Amino acid sequence: MVIKPRLKGGLALTNHPIGAKEFVKRQIDYVKSQDKYEGPKKVLIIGSSSGYGLATRISLAFGAGAETIGVAFEKGIEGKRTGSAGWWNTIAFDEAAEKEGLKYKNFIGDAFSFEMKDDVIKFIKEEFGGKIDLLIYSLASAVRTDPIDGVTYRSALKSTTRDITGPTINFEKEIMEDTTMGVATPEEIKSTVKVMGGEDWKLWIEALDKGGVLSEGFKTVAYSYLGPKVTYGIYKEGTIGAAKRDLEHTSDILNDFLKKRYNGEAYVSLSKALMTKASAVIPIFPLYAALLYKVMKEKGIHEGTIEQKHRLLTKMVYGNEPVIDEERRLRPDNWEMREDVQAEVEALWDKVTPENFKEISDYAGAREEFMQLNGFDFDNVDYDADLDLEELAKLRP
Ligand code: NAI
Ligand code: NA
Repeated sequence: MVIKPRLKGGLALTNHPIGAKEFVKRQIDYVKSQDKYEGPKKVLIIGSSSGYGLATRISLAFGAGAETIGVAFEKGIEGKRTGSAGWWNTIAFDEAAEKEGLKYKNFIGDAFSFEMKDDVIKFIKEEFGGKIDLLIYSLASAVRTDPIDGVTYRSALKSTTRDITGPTINFEKEIMEDTTMGVATPEEIKSTVKVMGGEDWKLWIEALDKGGVLSEGFKTVAYSYLGPKVTYGIYKEGTIGAAKRDLEHTSDILNDFLKKRYNGEAYVSLSKALMTKASAVIPIFPLYAALLYKVMKEKGIHEGTIEQKHRLLTKMVYGNEPVIDEERRLRPDNWEMREDVQAEVEALWDKVTPENFKEISDYAGAREEFMQLNGFDFDNVDYDADLDLEELAKLRP
């Protein structure tokens, strides 16, 4: 079968398994081109298969030689479906890790469940040396079933202040268009906090603590975003922002707890805006990202997911140059938030129109990054190749 890209708005309906290999390989090559670093030896990554979680796993494994456990929710080939990007990314990671003799294990399923937590803890005890040094929490999900009361919550990408209309990029139609974000009900705000807030992160730490699998000096980092003024309405002051503030509050609770018990630490890290599966569907965000890339590339300070996470780990979490704000948050978004960067993005934001957006933004770069998330648009992958889906279907993460 020949697999071609098929998009629906900010969603990719198909993924290319060979392209995913290239996607992962390029990230590994980047890490290998940098100095090795002293980091954690045993790591658990929740949300390990794409975006920031995958980049983190690659940096830790190939940069610090860490053994990694990855938890992700992904699907393989089923009928006409070509498998999710994270499925193929994980298989590509496995193959590369295998070659280097790096130990890894994947759990594909629902991180929010107690069952998953039990399975992972059992594995750590019986086959992973008994303890972990680091937990990275990099989940992005639209639904969560609360394992305590069994209720399923859905997150909403909505405003909490007023209807917000603003421009975004539609990658399917390759146009700039207005989107409107409605106002969330109190229920929708609560549900979004349930899904994307800190509750599950805390449940993981509690379960791991009870299981006795946390090492002395254990650290945990959850990924969050703040963003600049132009996105406040949709992000900081949106339902997702409410969830992220809950995550930050949770980091303080966990930090106190871990400090006492393990001389450990819990942080939230505010990452740079990037095109990922999760961010591509947030209204307004893709246009902001395309303008931001333009400015950051011109200034020579643009980072992709791997550069961003590698800097967080080598310089901040396991290095001597942490950038921490007054609310105790790690700030690898510091280059995005620089005053000169934001001033230029704002100036472009005022100028951008449906006619000029491809010229004045880094539309091509943002689109390429979006396509590459799904294994497309690599110049060295043959997209006319007839793939043997039956053979590919035998592969498992
Ligand atoms: P992504 O969509 O690329 O990755 C999400 C991961 O969560 C995938 O590995 C997926 O398999 C996993 N997942 C989803 N539901 C799951 C479930 N029920 N059980 C197990 N695994 C599940 O998203 P991205 O962008 O890497 O986001 C990760 C974190 O980084 C999020 O907290 C996001 O808010 C944050 N972030 C993203 C930014 C961006 O610009 N993309 C900027 C700053 C922070
Ligand atoms: Na991720």
